[in-house]
Amino acid sequence: MAKQNFVIAIDGFSSCGKSTVAKALAKKLHFVFVDSGAMYRAVTLYFMQHDIALDDLPAINEAMENIHIDFVPNPNKTEILLNGQDVSDAIRTMEISSQVSEVSAIKQVREAMVAQQQKLGAKRNIVMDGRDIGTTVFPKANLKIFMTADPYIRAERRFAELAAKGEQLTMEEVVENLAHRDHIDSTREESPLRQAEDAIVLDNSQLSQEEQLAFVLDLYEQAKSAS
Ligand code: DC
Repeated sequence: MAKQNFVIAIDGFSSCGKSTVAKALAKKLHFVFVDSGAMYRAVTLYFMQHDIALDDLPAINEAMENIHIDFVPNPNKTEILLNGQDVSDAIRTMEISSQVSEVSAIKQVREAMVAQQQKLGAKRNIVMDGRDIGTTVFPKANLKIFMTADPYIRAERRFAELAAKGEQLTMEEVVENLAHRDHIDSTREESPLRQAEDAIVLDNSQLSQEEQLAFVLDLYEQAKSAS
């Protein structure tokens, strides 16, 4: 019998540390790591670069045909290429963060991204993090984790991350952006953020990165022996 690939879906709210856990887990297991949020961020960057209005459906449809996103793994970081250009840093600005939820709520954008994500995980062992991975992209994932954390702790983490990159923002602005994104992400019509029924919750408010990795590795071992 052909060997099945193993899919790990990690969903949850903004700035919960999903990517950090997903990346560490993928590294440990030698799985491919895909940050699906980075794909929506790259689309947002493309829309901004090409002045595409969010209600201009013909322009959006054309854009989706012209957008190619690739992940290039390097020893230090995975580069995200938008039509061949490294946009890894350009997609992490507050300007992108403040528009990405609106862009990712557009049906045509989601359909194109979900199809690409399914292709990426079709034959490989993969850890993918996002909002709808366990519900829409891989409803039959071997392991589903739903991450959450105290909103104030999430905001503090995000604030520190942005400050380290030299972005001058107040804590209030960061709290507002997170609340705004959570609201749009969980109330949009197309595959909103929600916990899959068979997902296991990981609240990492009080956990170190090592503790989180140990927790998910344990879940992986259990899921592997069950599958
Ligand atoms: O994980 P992130 O914060 O980088 O994601 C950026 C945005 O992309 C987030 O506000 C919601 C959207 N997103 C989504 O709608 N579906 C996903 N699978 C991943 C991200």
